[in-house]
Amino acid sequence: MKLAVVGATGLVGNEMLKVLDERGVEFDELLLVASERSVGKKVIFQGNTYTIISMQEAIAAKPDIAIFSAGGGTSLEYAPKFAEVGTRVIDNSSAWRMNPNNKLVVPEINGHVIEDKDRVIANPNCSTIQMVLALAPLHKAYTVKRVVVSTYQSVTGTGKAAVDQMNNERQGIEGDMVYPYPIDKNVIPHIDVFLENGYTKEEMKMVNETKKILGDDTVQVTATTVRLPVVGGHSESVNIEFEKDFDVDEVRNMLSKTPGIVVQDNPAINEYPMPLFAHGKDEVFVGRIRRDETQPNTLNMWIVADNLRKGAATNAVQIAEYLIAQKLVHA
Ligand code: A2P
Repeated sequence: MKLAVVGATGLVGNEMLKVLDERGVEFDELLLVASERSVGKKVIFQGNTYTIISMQEAIAAKPDIAIFSAGGGTSLEYAPKFAEVGTRVIDNSSAWRMNPNNKLVVPEINGHVIEDKDRVIANPNCSTIQMVLALAPLHKAYTVKRVVVSTYQSVTGTGKAAVDQMNNERQGIEGDMVYPYPIDKNVIPHIDVFLENGYTKEEMKMVNETKKILGDDTVQVTATTVRLPVVGGHSESVNIEFEKDFDVDEVRNMLSKTPGIVVQDNPAINEYPMPLFAHGKDEVFVGRIRRDETQPNTLNMWIVADNLRKGAATNAVQIAEYLIAQKLVHA
């Protein structure tokens, strides 16, 4: 099994290597790929020294799987080139997610949609993944009608340059600005570009990707996505209206039995999910589970996950594990 990590020098790429190591993913050859700027750089992984190679070298090596986290433009241009040589691409960018020909996968929810013919498989948006993981079992039980979500997103979602901007501001150093405003001591209600309808692209990703992953176009989502000076993960305040009524204890129970979810919900001891504790973890943490008392069949909850883990690297590696387990690549 020849595995390529494209964008290996980036924040997600770096997390990907940690996740591959922790989960003991087996491969015969590992190719670490980045832009021309990084070609020739050395990276130590599992005690071995790897040299960063170019896209062209990686394509020529015909990897079985390539996990991409190198931005949308790079994916649009290069994923088809890898696919052409027989590679299965798992793509972290938004480039292929809403293309009807590409599967959008959270393995615990819809791994089964992957078919032998699929060459470029999309990894959903980080904010969407953590929300749908909690929505999926509840949708099965009570049918989600409408979701109102506000996010509190980590700077790590923007990449290394954003973490640098925040750290520079904290140290009083003048440096490059990735955001239109200072991020330290600030809250910016603007993630990705603004669209004609007044929403941001990040907000519309949550709207559209949720429907595609749940396989149900009737699920209505409205989102406000917000950037905070936080590094450990994304948090979300989620209000869900169901068709059917529910029991709050049953919801808590159902979520605690869902693979990949940890319920942290004990107000008596100030227990609730926070990015400080989700940092570096693969699970999605859910708490503050309570009935919305203003209308029937409606629930409030608070969802936190490390966006570089389940929101990106972990989910992508789980897709790779799924492909291997289903014998869709040779192991
Ligand atoms: P490089 O470090 O050489 O720029 P982040 O989102 O944390 O900034 O990381 C982005 C990742 O995507 C980095 O590994 C970066 O490599 C990689 N990357 C960016 N542009 C390209 C490209 N055109 N081809 C290959 N990798 C790229």
